[in-house]
Parts: sequence; C-alpha cells; structure tokens
Amino acid sequence: MPKFYITTPIYYPSGKFHIGTAYTTVLADTIKKYKQARGYDVYLLTGTDEHGQKIQKVAEERGKTPQEHVDEMADEAKKLWKLMEIDYDDFIRTTEPRHEKVVEEIFDRLMEQGDIYKSEYEGWYCIPCETFFTETQLVDGKCPDCGREVKKMKEESYFFNMKKYADRLIKFYQENPNFILPESRKNELFNNFLKPGLEDLCVSRTSFDWGIKVRKDPKHVVYVWLDALTNYITALGYLSDDDSLMKKYWPADVHLVGKDIIRFHGLYWPIFLMALDLPLPKQIYAHSWIMMKDGKMSKSKGNVIYPEQLIERYGLDSLKYFLLREMPYGQDGTFTPEAFVERFNYDLCNDLGNLLNRTIGMVNKYFEGKIKEYSNPQSMIGDNVNLAELNKEIEKFSDGTIHEVENLLDTYHMSNAIAQTWELISRTNKYIDETAPWVLFKEGKLEELQSVMYHLVENLRRIAILIAPYMTHTSKNILEQLNIPQELQTWDSLQEYTKLNNIKVTEKPEVLFARLDAETEIETIKNMMK
Ligand code: ME8
Repeated sequence: MPKFYITTPIYYPSGKFHIGTAYTTVLADTIKKYKQARGYDVYLLTGTDEHGQKIQKVAEERGKTPQEHVDEMADEAKKLWKLMEIDYDDFIRTTEPRHEKVVEEIFDRLMEQGDIYKSEYEGWYCIPCETFFTETQLVDGKCPDCGREVKKMKEESYFFNMKKYADRLIKFYQENPNFILPESRKNELFNNFLKPGLEDLCVSRTSFDWGIKVRKDPKHVVYVWLDALTNYITALGYLSDDDSLMKKYWPADVHLVGKDIIRFHGLYWPIFLMALDLPLPKQIYAHSWIMMKDGKMSKSKGNVIYPEQLIERYGLDSLKYFLLREMPYGQDGTFTPEAFVERFNYDLCNDLGNLLNRTIGMVNKYFEGKIKEYSNPQSMIGDNVNLAELNKEIEKFSDGTIHEVENLLDTYHMSNAIAQTWELISRTNKYIDETAPWVLFKEGKLEELQSVMYHLVENLRRIAILIAPYMTHTSKNILEQLNIPQELQTWDSLQEYTKLNNIKVTEKPEVLFARLDAETEIETIKNMMK
C-alpha cells in the first residue's frame, strides 16, 4: 500500500481555537479521508506547541502554572477535534518526554557538529509570533507579520549557522519546483529571503525558562520554533528506541501550514533536516487565511466565531463545506454570516438537498422506488431532445467531473474541487428540466423514464462519494437513502457508470438540510460573534 504522511502545524494552546485555526486541521483531515479512499495508508499528525514565552505569559495572565495551562488547553483541543471528527493518528504535545528528550539530543548534536554556536542576540522580538526581527524589518516599529508591539531584546543566545546550508537549499528549491505550494508563496520565500542571503538564526533564549533546557548549558531554553518543528519527526520516534514509524513514513508527503508560518517551514525546517542528514519533506502547502469583513479575527475586535457554535446549530458538514469552499486557492477567504447562510440555503439545501429529494420522490412515484439496470434508449423526447445523446453527454460530464476533482484534490485545490462537484449537481438538476420526467410519465414512455431515473441516481451516487471526505454524514445519508450497496460506495467504483442494478430507494426521503430563515439566522450568527 502506498504511504502518505501528512501533518498539521502544532497549535499554540494559548486560547480557544476559532474557525480560522480549525481550517488547517479540517483540510488535513479531508485530504486524509480522500487519500484513504484512493488506497493510501495515511498517517495524520497534529498536536500542541506548548513551550515559549507566549504560553508562559498567557498562563501567568490566567493565574496558572504553564503546565496546568497547557494540560487544560491540550484537552480542549482534543475535545474540539473529536467534535469535528478529525481522524488523527497521533497528537503530540511538545511537553511530553518523548519529544523533549529528542529535542535535547538534537540540540546537543547540532552543537557538537558545529552548526550551533554561542553569541549574543540584540534585536526585536514579537512574542505572539515568537519571531526575531531586526530594526529594519519592523513596519512602523511594529511586528511586520501581525502588526503588534515588539520587545527589545538583548541576551546571550545560541545561533544556528543558516548560511552554511543556504546554497544547498537554493539548489533544492531549483531542483524541486513544487516543494512549496502555491507557487506564489515559493517565489516570495525564494526571492525575498533565500536569494538575498539567510541570517543565522537565534535558537535559544535565556530571559524566561518555559522551554526545553539546553543540556550542556541549562540557563538556555531551546527556541520554541526549533523545538516545535522537530515534532514532525519526534512523533515518529526519531532517535528513540522504536523508530519504526520514522522508517515507515518519513519523509512527510506534505506539511500543511498557514501562510503566516511558511517561512519557518520552508527555510528553517529544511535546513535543520539537512543538518541532521535527513531527507526533506516532499511538499509544503501553505493555505491562506479565513478573514472577517473587518480583517483578522480577534477577540479584541469582537469578531471571532468558534466552530462549536456553528456545529451546534447547523451541523458539522455544513461548517466543513463552508470553510473548504470559501477559501480560494492561494487567496484569503471571508466568513460572513450572510455568506454562511447563503451557502447553506443555496448550495446545500437547494442544489444538493432538492436533487436528492426530487429524485427519490420520482423514483417512488413512477417505479415504486426501483431502478433496474443501465439503459440508454434511442428516443426523441420532449421538445426535440435526443435522449441517447443527452445521456451520453451527462455520462461524459460526470466522468469528467471525477477526473477533474481527483486532479484538484491531488494538488490541494480544495475549493475548486468542491466547486467542480457542485457543477455536477447543477448539471444533474438541469437534466431533470431537460428530460421533464413528468411528461415522459404522462406519455407512457416508461423505458425512457427509467433511463432518466437511472442517470439521476447514478450521478447522486457519484456526488455522495465525491463529497465523502468532508461531508461524511451527508454522503452516508445519501447513499443510505438510495440504498446503494457497499461495493458501489467506494472511490474505485466511480470509474464505471453502468454498475447500478436493482436498487430500491427509500420510500420516505429525509431532508438533508432544512432551509434556514435567512434573516433570523444571520442575526443569530451575528450574536454568536459578540
Ligand atoms: O503557528 N485562517 O500555531 P498557531 C486560517 N505553533 N488559518 C489560520 C487562521 C485563520 N484565520 N488563524 C490561524 C503556530 N491559522 C505554531 C505552529 S508548527 C511546527 C508550529 C492557522 O496556533 C495558522 O496559519 O498560531 C497555523 O497554520 C495554524 O492556524 C496554527 O496556528
């Protein structure tokens, strides 16, 4: 079985996760489910990034010890992923001994081989981003990444000799043009950081102590990004007694990250790996951000929305659908209550829900719920419509959609893949209008009518399989209502159009998504955000 190792970033357990933070994990889980459907042995890693000044500060503000704080928050994170049905294989916490021990060892090794040296750091530090900046990098004296206040820092520090590896990394970028996706992000990294020359990186801190101590110099704690990035290998048992997962899954097939942390993953992480003499990940995909109408989500702006709130009222599938659909490839997406309700009512309720309901209603009305085998009668129907030709066009459209969706999912064009699936839904709805089944019934054209019903049910079967990686419940519900046998519920079974035989759909169609009263629900969501 081919292997596929996929990771999310490990999250800072600094507060409750909002829908933006949940995005990376929803995306990772969707890719996992898709890859599994395609026959891969997938390993999905997530976790929490628990050290550093930011966490120490948040814990102090809450009147807790850092350990108490992260214990609570890691539980919260696991609870959320359970609610969101995230099927991770491992959840690593950077305060676990299995991680700390290996980070100590890695730091020792890098020191021994001369990649890490002692000096003094003088410059600026952004605590929320846990990032060092020089004077000239600041924008109006603030953090160029998040726009918040930065702190002046002067302390003894260890440095990692980035310059030593920079040429090798440049070469790697040139030889592996798809290493970083989307391309625009790669160009940004390459042109703005790598080509002008990397600065050595400060990799230890002495002004606080919530971190992994440097074994040979314990007044230093390891810089939180060096600590955090290594989670992708410590979780697999690198340098431990049992490194079988490391042997099986490394290098990662893809690290999923948000655009804000691509620099750490695209520059520092590959260099750390080179220094450890390990192969580099095959790909790093940096997604954009879910924004609000007034910019970034933040508690101080009062525009934050949490996944639990939306799931409780509208269900998990509609939230996943919205998040994945609304984030265009390489561009930010926007959450507005209006857009959420609109997508729910139009895409889910009208387009998909009605297609299922109408189809099941008609199959019951005209054929007591039964679909026989594939047929494509050569007949003219309605207003000079050649049914056989129309059916062939529908079949081709359906096949084309599957190939297109596969290509798009393989390259992480999630929103496009969903849009393409909805094109098939629209095309199938239009097919009902073009064939006017009620007229065929009135005219007694039962063979033609049976063929039309076959095509509707077959397309719905395919749609259900295509949406399964992110709308698991809806997919299952559709397949159950249509009574599709198990062997025709697999991704492999998408290849053939003619396999349905003796299907008996449910007598009582169940509504997939009940239409929302737009005004009321927009108001409800606005209140959730307060
Ligand atoms: O960066 N839309 O953790 P984190 C989409 N601990 N994605 C968003 C988002 C939004 N509005 N807001 C945040 C860290 N994210 C480090 C990672 S990995 C070795 C260490 C994404 O909790 C963000 O881009 O600040 C990142 O990918 C993830 O949430 C976790 O962010």
